Amino acid sequence: MNGKITKFWSDVVEVEFNKNELPPLNTILTLHNNTTYLLVKRLIDYKTIRAIIIYLSKDISVGEEVINTGKSFMVPVGSESQNNIYNFEGKPLLKDRITNPKYVEMNSTINKTRILDSKIEIIETGIKAIDFFMPIIKGYKLGIFGGAGVGKTVLMKEIIFNVNKNSRSTSNIFIGSGERSREAIELFQELEESDLMKNSSMYISKMNESPGARMSIVPIGITAAEYLRDKEKKDVLLFIDNIYRYVQAENEVSASLGKKPSVGGYQSTLESDVANVQERLFKNKEAGITSFQTVFLPMDDISDPSAVAVFNHLDGNLVLSRAQTAKNIFPAFDPLASSSNSVDPKIIGKRHFDAIIEAKRILKTYKDLEDVILILGFDELDEESKKTVKKALQLENFFSQNFFMTEHFTKEKGSYVKLNDTVESVIRILNEEYINQSPEIFSYIGSNLNLPTDDELGLK
Ligand SMILES: Nc1ncnc2c1ncn2[C@@H]1O[C@H](COP(=O)(O)OP(=O)(O)OP(=O)(O)O)[C@@H](O)[C@H]1O
Ligand SMILES: [Mg+2]
Repeated sequence: MNGKITKFWSDVVEVEFNKNELPPLNTILTLHNNTTYLLVKRLIDYKTIRAIIIYLSKDISVGEEVINTGKSFMVPVGSESQNNIYNFEGKPLLKDRITNPKYVEMNSTINKTRILDSKIEIIETGIKAIDFFMPIIKGYKLGIFGGAGVGKTVLMKEIIFNVNKNSRSTSNIFIGSGERSREAIELFQELEESDLMKNSSMYISKMNESPGARMSIVPIGITAAEYLRDKEKKDVLLFIDNIYRYVQAENEVSASLGKKPSVGGYQSTLESDVANVQERLFKNKEAGITSFQTVFLPMDDISDPSAVAVFNHLDGNLVLSRAQTAKNIFPAFDPLASSSNSVDPKIIGKRHFDAIIEAKRILKTYKDLEDVILILGFDELDEESKKTVKKALQLENFFSQNFFMTEHFTKEKGSYVKLNDTVESVIRILNEEYINQSPEIFSYIGSNLNLPTDDELGLK
């Protein structure tokens, strides 16, 4: 059953086995007393495979014996796995904590019989821009797109804590794919302080780990999410930071295996790599996986092939833009670039739906007028356009919001705004109830239901 190394280069190892004893794809091979891990990625002929290095505890050499474990990654799953952080090996990183999880093989939980449930349950986030423009529904997949440092991780963390405030019974799974280890530690500490670790588990592969580990951590975490949904019938909130790193790691592995790249230098299997993970995230009759995924945009480019591949699978695409951060608007939400399939009167009601359409129309008109204002000046606009611009600025400021997650450095208290209050606040702005007041009064205010209207102030 065991094999011998015949060749290796970059992070690929060629191993020969006895005739017809080849391990199948995605099997883990080990060396050095179970401390070095390889993953089978290509079958070359009846006795040769190519594996990629997941972790090397020391150098390897030709002729060394390799052990076929006969299994893929083993994933700690179920309620018993909660309250801990795991690496790709499934080893708990908090060793002093007694967690006694059950282990299942990676991807053994894939559920092809997707029994869709049409019951709609809205999940309030308390974040105005999300609740208003892209209401989250149970089973929904939200992508948070943005270039470097525009606030993706901060926004995702705010969602984790706010949603958990509403429902203490959900299970959280966090997948850290190829990001900084400091961020994972901070998140852990914050979850711990808020007493949320007891229903959370974290699966982490950091940016300095091998592409094989970074690529595998996503299906590892999804296996755990599926187990909770299908075996324990529990609702799961799944957070992935960052799904782009998964695509990138798949690409690196594909390149080291000598596969030809396709559009934009990405792997030719880009679409299926993305589909393989996204199609596993849904809700069925008993329980659901609702997911929030950050998507890094190389060069801030929303048309990057990796972003487009992810885009197609999501229910909501939330775009954070650098232009907003430049105006000091956080979250740096770009309402015109973002879209959501929950914007449907049958889901959110006609009043909310009409408000979204009108708000978008106003923001779009303002955007079209921006150049004119720059050249001719605001005063040259006709009265109607002036009103539109003013409402647009009021809306833009209204969607800025102080986060609980940033209290420690902004020194401002975080705010949670109820979905209905957000909708009513926007409707008041659209109805021109504050049209004679400065847009600045809306900056970082929470809801404006307590703000005196023009009428109340006697402004004409
Ligand atoms: N809501 C916010 N309020 C105030 N400042 C913010 C907010 N969101 C982000 N920032 C600022 O932007 C910085 C970067 O945010 P964050 O780490 O979330 O970006 P990112 O998009 O995840 O970056 P990367 O691409 O490097 O992962 C923060 O450290 C903070 O200074
Ligand atoms: Mg980040």
